Amino acid sequence: MKILGIETSCDETAAAIVENGSRIISNVVASQIDIHARYGGVVPEVASRQHLLTIIPVIREAMTGWDWHDIDGIAITHGPGLAGSLLVGVNLAKAIALATGLPLAGINHLEAHVYANWLEHFSASGQESEVKFPCLCLIVSGGHSDLLLMEGHGRFRALGRTRDDAAGEAFDKAARILGLGYPGGPAIEKTAGSGSPCIPLPRAWLNGSNDFSFSGVKTAMWHLVNRGEVSVADAAASFQLAVADVLVAKTIAAAKQSKAEQILLSGGVAANRTIAGRFLAESPVPVLVPPPHLCTDNAAMVAACGYYNLKAGKTGDYDMDVVPGLGLG
Ligand code: KG4
Ligand code: ZN
Repeated sequence: MKILGIETSCDETAAAIVENGSRIISNVVASQIDIHARYGGVVPEVASRQHLLTIIPVIREAMTGWDWHDIDGIAITHGPGLAGSLLVGVNLAKAIALATGLPLAGINHLEAHVYANWLEHFSASGQESEVKFPCLCLIVSGGHSDLLLMEGHGRFRALGRTRDDAAGEAFDKAARILGLGYPGGPAIEKTAGSGSPCIPLPRAWLNGSNDFSFSGVKTAMWHLVNRGEVSVADAAASFQLAVADVLVAKTIAAAKQSKAEQILLSGGVAANRTIAGRFLAESPVPVLVPPPHLCTDNAAMVAACGYYNLKAGKTGDYDMDVVPGLGLG
């Protein structure tokens, strides 16, 4: 069963064909990073216009060598995300479904991130292994830091979330404070490589709660930088360590508490090799993490998620709407 996935929730226009929820046939991502970088963040109006310009060429490229008769369903991200950006993808997906008669699945972007692990992943053993339920999912992206227990396909129970900044958002803000540009995650990871994590920064443990908070560490760094006492590389390394310490400790504690068989990492922050490496090295529970290009936004994860949704009979209709604030669990 081949699914065409389409993703336009934020600043990547993406389309992909995935077979049986795991084999990537094509995976095209047109990033708008260069366009938004000069503004220091995503400009929603600019993003939706750019999606309009690139969505058809991106889908054509993903469909190269394939015909609509070869495709068994369309999976489209309908939330959460930027309303104007989501609208471009959802309306085009509905038009394709209407023209071809193919079934349509409206996909939760957060659930799609988790399904990147069904495409390809690293583990401590170096082997691909089967995902085992229940598994503990940590989704760390630009908009979310969510801990969820996944009890089966499409069955999620929320255990914790960020109370303020998402992990990726904190990376982006910290990078701006350090003058490292946008997007902040890759810039901090690169700069941290030449620094030492010698600066004490706070960690928000929140009395053992499964929730996260990253605004305090960001503000502490702002004060340090304003006093002009620190090297940028040391600050980047110390910030990355502070975020990693909290993510690793809280996720492992939640996995033990919920008796999860595995930990599944996903979202843009999981592309950070230092953070992913800490999980792989320290967790007593097996950890799966997708390769970096499948952690950040892409449509292959949407197609993989769509396969399981369509198999479960979860189809959308032509009146499907965008849900910018859609949650999971
Ligand atoms: O999942 P994603 O591509 O988009 C959203 O759904 O938000 O995540 C983007 C976020 C950004 O905040 C970006 O700075 C962060 O992921 N990110 C990273 C790295 N690569 C991307 N954070 C830390 N280290 C990285 N290498
Ligand atoms: Zn995302």
